[in-house]
Amino acid sequence: MSRSEISSAIASPGAALFPSQEFRRQIDDRLTLELERAQERVARGSVTPTIDMEAFRRELAAFDFLVPRPLTELLDWSVEMLEHGVTHLTSPRYFGLFNPSPCFPAQCADRIVGSFNPQVASSATSPAAVALEAHVIRSVAQRAGLPAQAGGHFTSGGSEANCAALLCALTSAHPQFATEGARAFSGAPVLYTSKESHRSWVKIAHQAGIGRSATRLVATDGRGRMASRALAEAIETDRANGCVPVLIVASAGSTNAGMIDPLEECADIAKRYGLWYHIDAAWGGAAIASERLRGVLRGLERADSVTVDAHKWFAATMGCGMFLVRDATAPSAVFHVAASYMPSHELSVDPYMNSAQWSRRFLGLRLFLSLACAGWAGHAAHIERAVEQTAWIRRSLEERGWQIANDSPLAVLSAVPPPALGEPRTIVARVLASGRAWVSLAKFEERDVIRICVTHGETSAEDLATLIEALNSQSLS
Ligand SMILES: Cc1ncc(COP(=O)(O)O)c(C=O)c1O
Repeated sequence: MSRSEISSAIASPGAALFPSQEFRRQIDDRLTLELERAQERVARGSVTPTIDMEAFRRELAAFDFLVPRPLTELLDWSVEMLEHGVTHLTSPRYFGLFNPSPCFPAQCADRIVGSFNPQVASSATSPAAVALEAHVIRSVAQRAGLPAQAGGHFTSGGSEANCAALLCALTSAHPQFATEGARAFSGAPVLYTSKESHRSWVKIAHQAGIGRSATRLVATDGRGRMASRALAEAIETDRANGCVPVLIVASAGSTNAGMIDPLEECADIAKRYGLWYHIDAAWGGAAIASERLRGVLRGLERADSVTVDAHKWFAATMGCGMFLVRDATAPSAVFHVAASYMPSHELSVDPYMNSAQWSRRFLGLRLFLSLACAGWAGHAAHIERAVEQTAWIRRSLEERGWQIANDSPLAVLSAVPPPALGEPRTIVARVLASGRAWVSLAKFEERDVIRICVTHGETSAEDLATLIEALNSQSLS
């Protein structure tokens, strides 16, 4: 191979990966325009995927990654794939799981972070980013009513934050847990959460090595809230049988129905038995922004730790949770580690010594920018609007003979259709097939319900009317 052949062989893949500034600018401008157009079509089009998956699998199979293709073509292909191949959280007619249409400041943050790609494992490499995340976490923790010395960290989501809570609980329950794991305890360690809680707890017990059966799913009061008497009884029974209770988890905004467990009563029980008290406020926690609504979270300030997902009701882009903790040093008791190759080793500061992740993305800028440019008041308006729209949906359905099984103060309904319209399962299938809106099938207190949650900050009165029509229509269109 001649020298020029070698240099062109080296240069050409490099040019595709690291093109000229001029080329990047052109692509950026083009992408901005194409994404804007795609989002306009999404707002008008089907909420559900319309892609022909057989054809798509054939297209995918043709990517053998041997012959490079032009980036412009690939970007168009990617936008089209997402436009037709996913359920659209950015559709104002998505009344779905707690996945938001992301707010613009968070999207800007992603763009900035993608460009600089800082490594937020260490304060030495990213001092400003680490300090900014710590500031946001402290601000949210204080807004939640935790003391000034509270801390925590950003996580990939609610599941990671919940897992951090269990690990902190186990570590604080027994000084030898860190070295010996579950064997350190005199009996099986167990945790308590309601049967309406998020099922991440089952996986988390497995990951933490205490086994899935360690998750006690406590009875509810018939209205979706943990029954505090059943909780106390379960703890007594376990203690009598030689198990070791370590953690109580209350939900503040249950996944199916937005119900809030009796936070104060759970706090009293945790105190009585000396257990770690975690509140899973992954979605409902955003209500701390609203002066009008935050009262529903009374008792949040008594938690040892709290999960709040910015990628839920704070409308950050996906993969942005928060673990808030009363004692800021608790996570480092779990996650501390010595690594000679790391450029900094500050126990109370360095994210790699305080959280499960090591190399990690700069997540905090998303919430920082949205809080800084909209303020708590802006987030309050977003939440209050969703709650008002939910009340409107409720009235409209009740006028048409529906029942609402839950009485959540938040923005989610567990709706039961009049028998003449068919089973919830049939109606959900019909709505999804029409592509006019997205709702889901859920169980609330053992009953099939249609789960309707307002998640989009720009859902209009017309979108709400379309939802009501789609739910009540016997036809597919
Ligand atoms: C109450 C609750 N906790 C935890 C989670 C898990 O959060 P993530 O999906 O961000 O891991 C969810 C997700 O919906 C949730 O609703």
